[in-house]
Amino acid sequence: MSLIEVDTSKCQRDRICAQECPGKLIIFPQKDSYPTTIEQAGEFCIDCGHCIAVCPHGALKLKGLGPEKLEAVNHQLLPSPSQVRHFLTSRRSTRTFKKKVVSRQQIEELIDIARYAPSGSNKQQVHWLVIEGQDKVQHLAGMVADWMCMMLQHSQDEAMNRRYARVVEAWDQGVDRILRRAPSVIIAHAPADVFGVATDCVISLTYLELAAYSQGLGTCWAGFLTTAATYYPPLQEALELPAGHLPYGALMLGYPVYQYQRIPQRQPARVIWS
Ligand SMILES: Cc1cc2nc3c(=O)[nH]c(=O)nc-3n(C[C@H](O)[C@H](O)[C@H](O)COP(=O)(O)O)c2cc1C
Repeated sequence: MSLIEVDTSKCQRDRICAQECPGKLIIFPQKDSYPTTIEQAGEFCIDCGHCIAVCPHGALKLKGLGPEKLEAVNHQLLPSPSQVRHFLTSRRSTRTFKKKVVSRQQIEELIDIARYAPSGSNKQQVHWLVIEGQDKVQHLAGMVADWMCMMLQHSQDEAMNRRYARVVEAWDQGVDRILRRAPSVIIAHAPADVFGVATDCVISLTYLELAAYSQGLGTCWAGFLTTAATYYPPLQEALELPAGHLPYGALMLGYPVYQYQRIPQRQPARVIWS
């Protein structure tokens, strides 16, 4: 099967597909020809689907997949700029969670949305580990506390040690500043030998965080967990990630107890216009 198939009864030869193809794999050999691909197109196509998605006439198939199989963009459903601004600026980290666990169905929906996050060369190599239930989450938090105790004995970083000492002290007193007694934690992991996957994981988690906020859920990035999982073998073993995978980010997830009433101030943007 050729990479693209063109329905010549629909194609208007407007060259939009060629303009939008990231690898410039679609060409129009002559002025009045229909689109075709360069010889090595199969090797370089990243399967982004832009050619099918952008064609106003629904004239293209990519690898046998036609426009009728793709969900149409509903422009009426898109939020306004002011809605987007308010949505993004009013998102806050949640650190007090209800005990109620977010359903597997809802987490699946969040992960499904996060699949649409951009990824370098459309690699889509982000994998997910969902820790369900406060007991399991607390077990992991305890391991992070153990790692912090170890760091306190060996690290010369005074500022970090003072911070970790407070977190461990709180943990010993039954206050979880590590995973905030969240009912779930979601970890994004990926094969460490694939270029750029750390960024892909973080962008996907960001999508997931924003989708969660839109559904009335609360999240908080679990930086202590991610750092410990990067450096502490017992925690890595407990996570049982596939061989060669590293965790590149994690979010606590649950129902927030409190609603934020105001948007806190942030520093002015540091921009150089050049
Ligand atoms: C990479 C990253 C790691 C973070 N790790 C933690 C963490 O371990 N614990 C925590 O309570 N908050 C953590 N946070 C949340 C930040 O403290 C929070 O985003 C920041 O204070 C701004 O607040 P906001 O998210 O409500 O705007 C982390 C945030 C990021 C981006």
